[in-house]
Amino acid sequence: MTDDLSRRRFLGVAGTAAAAGAVAATASAQDQKAAPASPIKILAICTSPRQDMSTAKSLQVALDAAREVDPERVEVELVELAGLRIPGEPAAGVELGPGERDDFPSLVPKLSDPKVAGLILGTPVYFSNMSYLCKAFLDRLILFRKNDLALAGKVAGVIAVGAGRNGGQLLAVESVQGALYCQDMIVVGAGRPTTRCGAAVWSQKDKDVTDDEAGMQAVRDVGRCVAELALRLARA
Ligand SMILES: Cc1cc2nc3c(=O)[nH]c(=O)nc-3n(C[C@H](O)[C@H](O)[C@H](O)COP(=O)(O)O)c2cc1C
Repeated sequence: MTDDLSRRRFLGVAGTAAAAGAVAATASAQDQKAAPASPIKILAICTSPRQDMSTAKSLQVALDAAREVDPERVEVELVELAGLRIPGEPAAGVELGPGERDDFPSLVPKLSDPKVAGLILGTPVYFSNMSYLCKAFLDRLILFRKNDLALAGKVAGVIAVGAGRNGGQLLAVESVQGALYCQDMIVVGAGRPTTRCGAAVWSQKDKDVTDDEAGMQAVRDVGRCVAELALRLARA
């Protein structure tokens, strides 16, 4: 009886929500007609220290899917951190030694570009979590947090690439997402049909990472979700 009542109450709430959703969908369709078509940019940040490898390739697939959502309005760019020096100490207010290189400031203008409406973070899996470069990059984003949460409201998706089928990709994805929530970013998963929390990619030995069909599908889904929501928010 209680179960039945709860179910009916749930269905009532769900019905109201569905009606509200239909109204919102109509409003959003009207908004789309009225809104001017301003372009947006989706940046992918590759945090592998190895250039042009499996994480970068996966991110490129995500960016291609993001662009496909609306090729006239969605610009994309892949930024590889490979070869850059991004020390973590400045995030904690610790000064670098004399002559110590710090390339993070060179990334700030790119990340601050108001056109950037979405970020896709890609990390290789290192011992069941994100790479050291990914962690240092995320820590350095404290600059944006301190600057009135400058990344707030931008959309973010996350991809992790590991050499094992169950190598810790999802833990890495969730760890990165945790840091992005601290920036008040809007974190999306992979959307329908899988509704996974992000993309887990398997970079098998002696195979190209793009051979991982399930991984590539998830990566495309993340790219599409980021672009779709970023476009909707840009119209709002
Ligand atoms: C220090 C280190 C730790 C790693 N730990 C894991 C791991 O825990 N799980 C996993 O699936 N792969 C692990 N790997 C493999 C990498 O995640 C994998 O090779 C990945 O594709 C590298 O990305 P990249 O080709 O973009 O550099 C590790 C690699 C390194 C160098």
